[in-house]
Amino acid sequence: MCGIVGYIGDKDAQSVLMEGLARLEYRGYDSAGIATLEGGHTQLRRAVGKLVNLKARLSDDPCPGHVGIGHTRWATHGGPTERNAHPHHENGVTVVHNGIIENHADLRVELEQKGRAFKSDTDTEIFAHLIAEGREEGLDTEAAMRRALTKVEGAFALAVVDEKDPDRILFAKMASPLVVGFGEGEAFLASDIPAVLAYTRRFSFLEDGDVGVIDKDGVRITTLDGEHVTRPVKTIDWSPVMAEKGGHKHFMHKEIFEQPRAITDTLRGRLEFDEGRVFLDNVSDEFLRSTKRVCIVACGTSYHSGLVGRYLIEKLAKVPVTVDLASEFRYREPVLEDGTLVIAISQSGETADTLAACKEALARGAGALAISNVIDSAIPRLCDESAGTLYTRAGPEIGVASTKAFVTQLCALHLVALALAQDRGALGRDEIIAEMTALSKVPREVEDLLTGEEQLRALAREFMGANHMLYLGRGTLFPIALEGALKLKEISYIHAEGYAAGEMKHGPIALIDETMPVVVLAARGHGYEKVVSNLEEVRARGGRIIAVCHEDDERLLGLAEGAMPLPRCDERMLPILSTIPLQLFAYHIADLRGTDVDQPRNLAKSVTVE
Ligand code: AGP
Repeated sequence: MCGIVGYIGDKDAQSVLMEGLARLEYRGYDSAGIATLEGGHTQLRRAVGKLVNLKARLSDDPCPGHVGIGHTRWATHGGPTERNAHPHHENGVTVVHNGIIENHADLRVELEQKGRAFKSDTDTEIFAHLIAEGREEGLDTEAAMRRALTKVEGAFALAVVDEKDPDRILFAKMASPLVVGFGEGEAFLASDIPAVLAYTRRFSFLEDGDVGVIDKDGVRITTLDGEHVTRPVKTIDWSPVMAEKGGHKHFMHKEIFEQPRAITDTLRGRLEFDEGRVFLDNVSDEFLRSTKRVCIVACGTSYHSGLVGRYLIEKLAKVPVTVDLASEFRYREPVLEDGTLVIAISQSGETADTLAACKEALARGAGALAISNVIDSAIPRLCDESAGTLYTRAGPEIGVASTKAFVTQLCALHLVALALAQDRGALGRDEIIAEMTALSKVPREVEDLLTGEEQLRALAREFMGANHMLYLGRGTLFPIALEGALKLKEISYIHAEGYAAGEMKHGPIALIDETMPVVVLAARGHGYEKVVSNLEEVRARGGRIIAVCHEDDERLLGLAEGAMPLPRCDERMLPILSTIPLQLFAYHIADLRGTDVDQPRNLAKSVTVE
């Protein structure tokens, strides 16, 4: 997820672009750059790291001009370096891009075979070369861009300037967000409203397939085929503070609602239905093929995703799996036989315990694969020397409580399980296609679940006064019970515990009385009948039950005081889908209790110390 911004008008473009990028840093901050047009030339400045580094460069060497584009990066292809920072320039054409070009590797080979020299490792540079190629062949900028768009597959919010066509900015939108802002004698492009809300409150929201230009008179939008398109102009009344969170009250809330897009991006280019197999970019096939057993190491929420990963890998690939808290693994002198693959799961890629566990595993001769959300962070860098890194593409997660990173970790683990399964023939082609089909439906199913927010807020209001809460689940929903409890305790400060439902009679049932609400994950599937009997045991002791169950499960709804309904769905996707209501339940309880949801007391987003 990156942030792009564009400006054309009478103001100093640099100042508008830098102000915009400052408001978009939440979308990515591993490098940034701007390009402006002045006197038929392109002024291009880029810097690695946070925006403050670009600002320093510009104070020494400003970019003149009244037309320009800017970009703040969350790396997906190519590490966070200056050469990979946007904008990318080729023979008078300069581009910034938010998204993923799925066929970038094939296009790069094609262009290099034509003699074009690439200066970066990014997928984005493809656009600069394709458009420059069109211009060199006599096409105008717009025709060159349209032709380029017919060749690329994937997601893009694209802005293009051409020093030989300096009085406009061209754009295209597919799957990644892009808005147009309207001023008097000026116009704006941005990934998100906050970037330019200081200059205008009038916006059009572009739709997938929109292609066009902005100039001082406004915007012209067409389809890729050139048919005219009209988009309504809306007036936005957000405050600047709300704008930074895209209209959401907290980053956590925003990130919960980003989950459909985050899941879509994480799966993008990795489900090859024609071949009937998954494709794990940046992961060594050799290591996967030689894997005899898997050890998963992680902390906190990432540990919970690892627990789900064990069920998935053992069920689908028939490979034995252990899961360790990284802080324990690193000191227990683990015995790792030949063919052991350690999977280190870490959103930040910097968690000290997980990094140390990874080093311990490598020192003991195991292979190491990272699942992380931050490209080139410490754990991926370590694992790229071994089995590689499967990146989640959730974009920056600002809220300390992990949400979109968790569900995309579950997707990544499902992909790893399928890759291990297909390599050893544990699943047939049709079975793999069935799994991929189920995964591909999840973004839509999450969208549907998010529409139930109001009921969950009402439920949160009923239970916000609890001092303790128990979460129960079986099978793959046991780790989700742990995750639900962690979400609640870390942002609302209510004591909450997750337990395997089958463990109730081994102790926890002693806790049950009318002051102890019990959240029971009881979706139909393996263990359902047993969960129902656990639930009846709780009810018989006066416990207050909140059932996470299918919306048509009259039996459970009759037993429960509160419900978090789930849609009819593929049982295999229940871990992801049942997480969504638990996130919203915890969020609204914390919000109602007035805690600091995005930065809960005593917590840090990345625990880089022991
Ligand atoms: C999750 O909501 C917490 N913020 C915390 O448990 C987190 O998952 C843990 O610290 C691991 O972080 P990592 O994924 O960046 O390694």
